[in-house]
Amino acid sequence: MIIAVDGPTASGKGTIASAIAAHFGLPHLDTGLLYRAVGRQVQLAGADPDDAGDALAAADFPDTLLTDPELRSEAIGGFASRISIHPGVRAALLDRQRAFAQADGGAVLDGRDIGTVICPAADVKLFVTASLDARTDRRFAEMQSQGREVTREEVHAQIGRRDARDMGRKDAPLKPAPDAYVLDTTALDKDASIAAAIEIVASAV
Ligand code: C5P
Repeated sequence: MIIAVDGPTASGKGTIASAIAAHFGLPHLDTGLLYRAVGRQVQLAGADPDDAGDALAAADFPDTLLTDPELRSEAIGGFASRISIHPGVRAALLDRQRAFAQADGGAVLDGRDIGTVICPAADVKLFVTASLDARTDRRFAEMQSQGREVTREEVHAQIGRRDARDMGRKDAPLKPAPDAYVLDTTALDKDASIAAAIEIVASAV
């Protein structure tokens, strides 16, 4: 059983994907981490994320980089979004994602193009979304609770830029697969979002 979970930044797709994985006893891959590792490698090398060659060279990162806490930072999220527009980088990360999806018994993968490109034959496809305002509120609250000095306007602009890049790129743009269940979490809290997602998966398999 392969479950694909896609959606924009701060939509709650990561939380939902890991809850689905725990509920159904499946391994989970957060594919954003792979793109973040490439972004981090570019940063460490002092290379240019907008240069296709520099970005591709960074796609051959050591596995140890996947545990670097810096990967979760906004700065690396920005780098990840920039290196992810290069088709060579996307191709270099494809086999690793497909190999994970082929695990015995199935897997849950979350990202931007799981249902459209990585696992087009997934058993269940969820597209998790929420309004830009709702996603801004969540990310802003999270950053404030971490004591980060940031304004709501800055967070709103950051998420807007990330959306534009992820949805506007030519190769594997963020969009729901035609056969995806769209779950809008704008008016749902975390528990309600998870419950709704589990219900969709349970009734689809
Ligand atoms: O989901 P996360 O915020 O960790 O992803 C970071 C960036 O990696 C995204 O903004 C997107 O540009 C890129 N990404 C992607 N395809 C995926 C997962 C992430 O292009 N499957």
